[in-house]
Amino acid sequence: MTIIDTRTIENFLSNTEIAEIENMHSQGMTTLLIDNLKKPPVEGLDRTANYWHFDFYCKYNPSGKRIQEILLPKLQQSFHKDIYIDDCHILESYYPYEMHTDAVDNGKDYTMQAQPGYKSAWTFIIPLDNYNSNTIIFDQEAPYFKIPGHWIEETNPPVLNAIDKETYNKYLSHAVNPYECQYFSIEEIFPWKKGWLSATSRGKFHCSDYFLGNGITEKRAIVMWTTIPV
Ligand SMILES: [Fe+2]
Repeated sequence: MTIIDTRTIENFLSNTEIAEIENMHSQGMTTLLIDNLKKPPVEGLDRTANYWHFDFYCKYNPSGKRIQEILLPKLQQSFHKDIYIDDCHILESYYPYEMHTDAVDNGKDYTMQAQPGYKSAWTFIIPLDNYNSNTIIFDQEAPYFKIPGHWIEETNPPVLNAIDKETYNKYLSHAVNPYECQYFSIEEIFPWKKGWLSATSRGKFHCSDYFLGNGITEKRAIVMWTTIPV
């Protein structure tokens, strides 16, 4: 059985590979989907993020074919020979994501449904530049819940009090309220370094740090949501 582990691989993509990916994007070979904000938390900000999608498996699309050539053999070798990339996009993040999972399906509030015969696997993040920012990954896993409130309400997990005030203030004050934070412990803090890869189960809770507080107004990464055969 494949274990969907949490892992960091340094220098997963070279600067040359990143430049090629950026070049495909700047030539208009990606398609835009906007993640809208419900209400602007920062003046003038109208979105959480842009998702610029690659058509990963379309053989008629040269950028899809090329991004697949760059990424897929490495992912097959490091993670699973039959890994399926359900979604591959360049994330342009303008407002830090709060705590959530990339759950496959909880009935109404999912990131992306697995196709028949496949089950949830990893989320991958590959920063496209160096940023003074991190993704925080928690030990807690909830493949059928997207946000901490629902998971706590429905499963009544134990109170851990595992995250101290300093860590909470440094990374998490925007991402989760102190009550919900009691139920979590941190598994890994992934630094956004150019070309590094973060892998974690799509069912694990994670969030961004408050990068706006570090003077960053935008951070960019390749993000993939994946499945593997059941
Ligand atoms: Fe996510």
